[in-house]
Amino acid sequence: MGRALAVAYSKPGRTLILIGRDVQRLEEVAENCRSLGAAIEIGAIDVRDRQRMHEFILRMDDRHQVDLLIANAGVSTLLSRENIIEDHETTLSTFEINVFGVINAVQPIIQRMCARGAGQIALMGSMAALHGLPYAPAYCATKSAIHLYAESLRSSLSKYGVLVSLIIPGFVSTPFNAHLSVPKPMAMSAERAAIIIQQGLRNGKAQIIFPRMLYFVIRALLLLPSELVDAILIRVAVSIRDTDKL
Ligand SMILES: NC(=O)c1ccc[n+]([C@@H]2O[C@H](COP(=O)([O-])OP(=O)(O)OC[C@H]3O[C@@H](n4cnc5c(N)ncnc54)[C@H](OP(=O)(O)O)[C@@H]3O)[C@@H](O)[C@H]2O)c1
Repeated sequence: MGRALAVAYSKPGRTLILIGRDVQRLEEVAENCRSLGAAIEIGAIDVRDRQRMHEFILRMDDRHQVDLLIANAGVSTLLSRENIIEDHETTLSTFEINVFGVINAVQPIIQRMCARGAGQIALMGSMAALHGLPYAPAYCATKSAIHLYAESLRSSLSKYGVLVSLIIPGFVSTPFNAHLSVPKPMAMSAERAAIIIQQGLRNGKAQIIFPRMLYFVIRALLLLPSELVDAILIRVAVSIRDTDKL
């Protein structure tokens, strides 16, 4: 989705700053964006590296004045019915990337944006935050934390003129869930997701939810007693995802 967003935002006169760990992939995305007329800066940084994130984001802000920051990086484990226990290392890594990584991305820019009285921050949540899933405990917990963090930031930063948006996707077809052999209702392409996100951010939406129908179905399902919801979810068959890149 990061790639699709970078392409969607690319146009002459615009500068994009891309962060990720894989330099080769960053360069490929950068080339694509440059061909659309955007100027690109790259930061090959692990979002868990607080010091490097802090220095890079402030250096970029000195140079370009960041007006939109999208904290998108995220990982997930996926368990199967035969392997339903997450290991300790993976659980911690998921929190480090999905929660502390987001904090490392947004904290350096908050003071700057508040001082300027302008700016926009978007945090990538998930419909997986609406209820714990038996095959992705850490992931659901981290996204749930992001939802509440975004909501709190939204109301606290609004009086400084800084907008905060929470993005709540359902299934988007990316490498992230490519190995997921579970039904993916209303799955959409990353390109379509990027258009919806861009539109929502342009309109300063508090929450950018897609597909909305899936969101309402999940909310309705959650009106059932928790025991019943658990019993339904545990019956879902899933495949094991390779988690060694955490
Ligand atoms: N796909 C879905 O169905 C779906 C649904 C709801 C929410 N989301 C959320 O959407 C976001 C993007 O997911 P995606 O589907 O686009 O997955 P993806 O294709 O696997 O992309 C994940 C991105 O996060 C970056 N990343 C991961 N760990 C990182 C780290 N430690 N430091 C820096 N960058 C890191 C990766 O870059 P490098 O590998 O180069 O580091 C990659 O650009 C995630 O937050 C995910 O939770 C996805």
